Amino acid sequence: MSVAISPSILAAPLAHLGKAAKDIEAASCEYVHIDVMDGHFVPALTFGEQITAAIAAETKLPLDVHLMVTHPEREARKYYALKPAILTFHYEATTAPIRLAGEIRECGALAGIALNPRTPVSALNDIIEAFDLILLMSVEPGYYGQKFIEASWRRLEEIRLLQEREAAKGHKVLIEVDGGVSDQNAKMLSSAGAQILVSGGFVFKGDTTLQVKKLKEGT
Ligand code: DX5
Ligand code: ZN
Repeated sequence: MSVAISPSILAAPLAHLGKAAKDIEAASCEYVHIDVMDGHFVPALTFGEQITAAIAAETKLPLDVHLMVTHPEREARKYYALKPAILTFHYEATTAPIRLAGEIRECGALAGIALNPRTPVSALNDIIEAFDLILLMSVEPGYYGQKFIEASWRRLEEIRLLQEREAAKGHKVLIEVDGGVSDQNAKMLSSAGAQILVSGGFVFKGDTTLQVKKLKEGT
């Protein structure tokens, strides 16, 4: 089964982001995943729009921007000019998700909604129409290299049902899984419905081409 790979560049050697972007492009990944953390929504502080632009200048890979920020309504617009393929914000961080998703679609990106492990999938029932992608967090957001949370399997099943219900209405929603993805679970995740797999620690822990190959072969 074919699944898209979106390596989380946060797990790369940070002083060599340009090289990391080129490496994952050479390894035939489909996206580059940019974890924007603001030091409030999550403890860590990572990249903003300037470093994202610098990474974009080094690769042709489509940008998969994951905003882990307290004020997505204020922050998302800083990325519109970079023409991301996917722009995702957290359900837990917003009070006006439908309006923000509309803005993101207008900029030409797929509008993604991310769910933390504690947020019920049913929270999406009334807003899903506004979105093109669901990002299932399979770890608590904040750091790369954490262990995959097993309850994510059940949550993925629920998301798949939601995806089917939407498809029956003619609304296409993609499923992305983020956190603790490795060659040990990639195949099962893809069979369970994940269409985009984010992987940080695993992709960048050795030779990038080899690690990506292991992920792809595992699917
Ligand atoms: C976690 C981030 C993830 C993370 C993935 O807050 O959203 O994208 O960097 O890294 P791994 O694959 O190591 O869990
Ligand atoms: Zn992420």
